[in-house]
Order: sequence, then structure tokens, then C-alpha cells
Amino acid sequence: MNKKFSNKSILITGAAGFIGFFLAKQILETNDNTVSIIGLDNMNDYYDVNLKEMRLSILNETASDESKGNFTFIKGSLADKTLIDYVFNKYRPEIVVNLAAQAGVRYSITNPEAYIESNLVGFCNILEACRNSFDHGGKGVEHLVYASSSSVYGSNKKVPYSTDDKVDNPVSLYAATKKSNELLAHSYSKLYGIPSTGLRFFTVYGPMGRPDMAYFGFTNKLVKGEKIQIFNYGDMMRDFTYIDDIVTGVINVMSKTPGTNEDGVKYKIYNIGNNQPESLMYFVETLEKCLMREEVIDKPAEKEFLPMQPGDVYQTFAEVDEIVKDFGFKPNTSLEEGLNRFAKWYKEYYFENKVKAVQI
Ligand SMILES: NC(=O)c1ccc[n+]([C@@H]2O[C@H](COP(=O)([O-])OP(=O)(O)OC[C@H]3O[C@@H](n4cnc5c(N)ncnc54)[C@H](O)[C@@H]3O)[C@@H](O)[C@H]2O)c1
Repeated sequence: MNKKFSNKSILITGAAGFIGFFLAKQILETNDNTVSIIGLDNMNDYYDVNLKEMRLSILNETASDESKGNFTFIKGSLADKTLIDYVFNKYRPEIVVNLAAQAGVRYSITNPEAYIESNLVGFCNILEACRNSFDHGGKGVEHLVYASSSSVYGSNKKVPYSTDDKVDNPVSLYAATKKSNELLAHSYSKLYGIPSTGLRFFTVYGPMGRPDMAYFGFTNKLVKGEKIQIFNYGDMMRDFTYIDDIVTGVINVMSKTPGTNEDGVKYKIYNIGNNQPESLMYFVETLEKCLMREEVIDKPAEKEFLPMQPGDVYQTFAEVDEIVKDFGFKPNTSLEEGLNRFAKWYKEYYFENKVKAVQI
């Protein structure tokens, strides 16, 4: 992966987040100092803010090498229209990658406002700023890439999930906001000619990941010797994608604007996943094995088997033919390898206090 973004100004929202951080880091490291990344994040406390701070400090350190790309961080919310307009006017990004969002399916059941504010109001502010970037003869945004989610497939019975499937029946507010993003982006692409690509991510995991996700939460419980809860009695399948594979895919997508589709719109949606769902029980056993190998834990967890949670789905399974065809996307990190890297990082970060422990 060596896509060059020479002389580009790139806005990455959610840059202190899991995917945004690794994306920004990879671009900084593989580009020279003609590239500028503007990272925006409101640093909210949905999960441990220390992790976000740590990611930022790594980005600042990476960019302190003068031969590498430049990094500017702006703390603020997508929902602050004045700030978003200011950022676009000042930095004139050619590529915008919108990853900032309120993530998580279960949290959306009890905290709907956060999703409306970040994922709807915030996303509309990004779209408006993209539109206004062409005012007064401005060169404008060349490509908007934004995060959607496999959650849009809801309880789709047909597998693998294809971008041709009808996804009009979201089973969570989170999914509804992500599907709305795709619709809103389409109208802006159509009306104002803003090339846009939506990426439906499928359970991204890895070192320095999100503590709200199952693999991280299980690990925390295993370490404390607590019981772990296994929903739908373990009968679930997930299409896990390792963070490095995702970053490679996002960079490839960023570097090429979508062609004009049959409706005359520069608009595309891709699934970006592994195309290889794993059973929840295999996942848990592999995680336990990796954590035991690193001596993070010394025995498997006690498990409590429970029914399905509201908003959850039985299976996620990405059909990736389109992204393979257009970008040669090919995840090559096995679940065991990926969880092993997570276990190593977890040990260094939490047990050995190597605050900046990270391998990518
Ligand atoms: N990680 C996954 O498995 C996964 C799966 C499907 C979709 N996604 C989507 O991918 C994107 C990135 O996910 P992630 O895993 O890196 O999540 P993350 O929570 O680690 O990162 C999102 C970042 O956005 C920031 N943020 C939230 N609301 C904001 C706002 N209003 N203004 C500015 N910043 C704000 C948060 O502080 C956070 O740092 C999200 O849009 C998420 O919905 C992720």
C-alpha cells in the first residue's frame, strides 16, 4: 500500500478514533511533507478518553518527523456548523474522510440524541461544507469518503450481504443514521456533483481498538476473572476485519473518485469486510488462546449464555466483489493473527505501561 497524496489537504474526522487514527498514521508515514492531514475529533467520553489522547500523541509524534506528512488537530464537533465551515475555509481539503460518528448499536437504544447530533446533524454539516467548497470559484472537495456500517443490513436473511440488497428496515437507530448518510450523500452527489463513496465497515478490530466492542470488553472481563456474557447462546456469526486491512482499503478508495454511475451520479457504496464470517464461539476461544499465550490471562472465562439482545443481528457477512473488482481489496490477516496482535498490545499497554505501544 503506497498510495501517494502529494500536495493534498485531507480532512479526517474522527481522527482520534480507532479507524481514523490508523488511517491518519498510515498516510503520514507513507507520504512526504507536501501532504497535510487535518484531524477533527470532539474527544467525547463514550469510551476511555486516554486511548484517544494516546492516539493523538502518536500522530503528533509521527508528524514531527519533517520528512513525513503534516498533522493539525482540531478539537470540536461535527455538529458545530460554524467550526466545520471554518475548517473547510481555512484548510480547503481536497479529500474528506468522515469517520466521526456516534458508533455502537446497543448504546443507540438508550442514547438516541447522540446519534442524531453526530451522525445526522454532523453529517449534514459536512455535506453542506463540501457543497460550499465550490463557491467563488473554489476548487472544491474532490472526493468525500464516509463511514457507513454493516448494521444497515439489519436482519437481512440473505447472505452474503450485497450492496444490491434492499436495506430499508433498520433494526437500530444507529443503522438508520448510517443508511440516512448514504441517502443524504446521494442527493448531494446528484445535485451538487460531489463525488462520494460510502464504506460499509464490518466489525473492525485490532490493537488500540474500541473498548466498547466485544473482543475488548471480553478481554477486560477475562482479566478481572469475571463471567462473560454470550448472546444468542453463542449462535452468531461475525465478519471480522483487521484494522490494517481496513486502512489499506480506505486509502485505495480515497485515491480514486467513483466513476459516473448509470444515473449520472459520481456515487458509490462498497462493503469493506472479510467475506469470511467466523462463529462467535470460535472467536471467543481464539481470543482466550491469544490472551493465554501472552499471559494476559491464565485460564478461559466462565461463560453465561443469554438470548439475543435487542438491535443485534445473527450474522454479518460481506460480499466484497465490487471492492475487489475496483480496488483489488484483499484482507490477509487471519483472526488468530489479528487477535494475537491485539493481545500483545493489550499486555504492553495495560500491564507494562508502554503507553505508546502500537504495532501496525
Ligand atoms: N469499528 C467498527 O467495527 C465499525 C463498524 C461499522 C462502522 N464503523 C464506523 O466507522 C467510523 C469509525 O469508527 P471507529 O471504530 O473508529 O469509532 P471510534 O468511536 O473509535 O471513532 C469515532 C471518533 O469520532 C469522534 N466523534 C464522535 N462524535 C463526534 C462529533 N460529533 N464530532 C467530532 N468527533 C466526533 C469520537 O470522539 C471518536 O474518536 C464510525 O463512523 C463508525 O460508525 C465502525
